[in-house]
Amino acid sequence: MTGGRELLLLAVMPLLVRCQKPSVSMSPRLESIFTGDLFYLYCNNVSSGDTATWYFNNTALENKNSFLKIAPAASKNSGTYQCKIKDTKSDDFHVRVLEYVPAASLTIATGQPVMRKNSKVLLEIENETGLDGWFCKVTRKEQTWKVYLKHGDKSATSSVFETSALRVPETIYWCVKKNETYRSNQVILRTTEKEVTLEMDPFPAAAGDTLTLTCLVWGTNDISNSVFYKNNSVYASVKGPNYKITKITESEGGDYKCEATYRYKAQTIEASHKYDSDVQEVLVHASPFTAVLSDSMQCSCPTCSGSMTYSYYKQNAKSWKMLGQDQRPGSSGTYRCRAVLDYMRTLPSNSVNYGTSITGTVIGFLVAIVGIGICVFLVIFCWCKQRKTKGDIYEEVQMRQTGDPKYETLNVARVKEGEYDTLQPEAEGRKKTGGTYEALTKQDNKEEVYHTLGENVASEGGDGGYEALKKEGIPKDEYETLNTKSVEKKTGTGSEGGDGGYEALKKEGIPKDEYETLKTKQAEGRPGALSQLEIVEENK
Ligand SMILES: *[C@@H]1O[C@H](CO)[C@@H](O)[C@H](O)[C@H]1NC(C)=O
Ligand SMILES: *[C@@H]1O[C@H](CO)[C@@H](O)[C@H](O)[C@H]1NC(C)=O
Ligand SMILES: *[C@@H]1O[C@H](CO)[C@@H](O)[C@H](O)[C@H]1NC(C)=O
Ligand SMILES: *[C@@H]1O[C@H](CO)[C@@H](O)[C@H](O)[C@H]1NC(C)=O
Ligand SMILES: *[C@@H]1O[C@H](CO)[C@@H](O)[C@H](O)[C@H]1NC(C)=O
Repeated sequence: MTGGRELLLLAVMPLLVRCQKPSVSMSPRLESIFTGDLFYLYCNNVSSGDTATWYFNNTALENKNSFLKIAPAASKNSGTYQCKIKDTKSDDFHVRVLEYVPAASLTIATGQPVMRKNSKVLLEIENETGLDGWFCKVTRKEQTWKVYLKHGDKSATSSVFETSALRVPETIYWCVKKNETYRSNQVILRTTEKEVTLEMDPFPAAAGDTLTLTCLVWGTNDISNSVFYKNNSVYASVKGPNYKITKITESEGGDYKCEATYRYKAQTIEASHKYDSDVQEVLVHASPFTAVLSDSMQCSCPTCSGSMTYSYYKQNAKSWKMLGQDQRPGSSGTYRCRAVLDYMRTLPSNSVNYGTSITGTVIGFLVAIVGIGICVFLVIFCWCKQRKTKGDIYEEVQMRQTGDPKYETLNVARVKEGEYDTLQPEAEGRKKTGGTYEALTKQDNKEEVYHTLGENVASEGGDGGYEALKKEGIPKDEYETLNTKSVEKKTGTGSEGGDGGYEALKKEGIPKDEYETLKTKQAEGRPGALSQLEIVEENK
């Protein structure tokens, strides 16, 4: 009986294999694709020896690999993709790249886009209307995992989490909300084993942006010379570590590396070192749509289609604070706006001073001085007038006080200026970003940085986090305990933490098919790296 079936299978097998239709899949799988995204299309069912032919809008591409890398995605990549193996073509795979930016922003809070192997970075997810229901995802090679955020405060608009140790050349993080219609931009983290790294903004540059290339050396910032190479020929040679490309164009994209001439701080001998970095791809894409703010505070988006709503942002010391829904600029200040369409939005507009301007302030100040003179003169005659003018003076002075510091603190180091807003008025995290970026370039400070951050986590409940979540009655399948410093302390005794978590999950009755593996770095035999559990998502 079974023998017969096997025979039948054997007979049918070659037929099946021959007729097997290839299929196209996407990794990471993105529900909506935004300008600047990185993703791969894979031609499945390529057996070794087969070559795949890719088609875009029915035109064969030169690429003969089993995958197609699309980075940075731009509207020109929108269309239909197919792959062909032997003579069998796959079904159409549709790609639509939106010329907008996503509803939430994911930024690097501590660290750089290129890190040493096995190190970690802190990422910060922000969405102005809260992070309830949001979680993050990470893709390494072809596998995608879920990363759950631990929210103490359900109304929080930003959350910082630690990545796991970076071990593969390319790791893609991004965050999504529930059914993944809403998402954040991607952060792509790369690793290097060299002392010298070429760093640039963590986000692909949009044409017209300024891009700063930095040649960093782990353990010193005493870099006398940097030579930047593009496609293996010298592109620029500068004193110090930075080279700024103003108004980058798409043709400036390519493979870059740098070579630093440097000395270590404690070094006593004269000779300096000279080494080069790994090659990094500089990606330049067409700019997503940008809103325009007029002097009369009218926000518009000439290139957008659809019924956009507009949100306004007021500059608040170091950050931009979103005004409430439907609220228009009222008080004087510096504003910018974005056009919003459901799960996508434009880049922020130009910023405009409203109710005051620098010349306005200067004129106002002169008027005030004249006013004082008149006041003093008139004081004997008219007490009322004097009082009124004094009121004006007071207001002028106050405007200057709140106005001036704004201009000094506009710079946000590793965050693409303009694209991503800081939501917290206190902007503590952002401030820290700048500081730790400096610190990280000096290796000795690294410990301290992580130490401080660890404390933050601990103060949120540390290992109690998971328990606390349970007590709060948060569905286990939505929130997973992650950063547990105290689990980390158990490092000596092997994979206790990991097993415990796994057991706990089992007890919670999580369907096994949904959550396959609970992984801790410890379980992978890398003590010290533990700090976060991840759950394999089986249906990538
Ligand atoms: C074809 O791909 C599917 C899905 O990736 C897989 O399940 C199947 O085993 C593959 N078949 C062959 C012949 O490789
Ligand atoms: C590919 O086809 C799509 C849909 O037919 C079209 O919108 C797009 O402009 C085409 N892209 C190119 C580069 O021809
Ligand atoms: C934040 O996410 C919500 C969905 O949770 C979305 O409606 C909102 O537009 C996002 N915020 C912004 C500024 O886009
Ligand atoms: C996701 O949920 C939103 C509302 O929460 C809904 O409008 C949208 O159609 C859903 N998308 C998918 C793909 O299910
Ligand atoms: C440099 O390399 C990139 C990517 O490999 C390629 O697209 C580009 O055409 C090259 N540029 C030059 C000038 O060779």
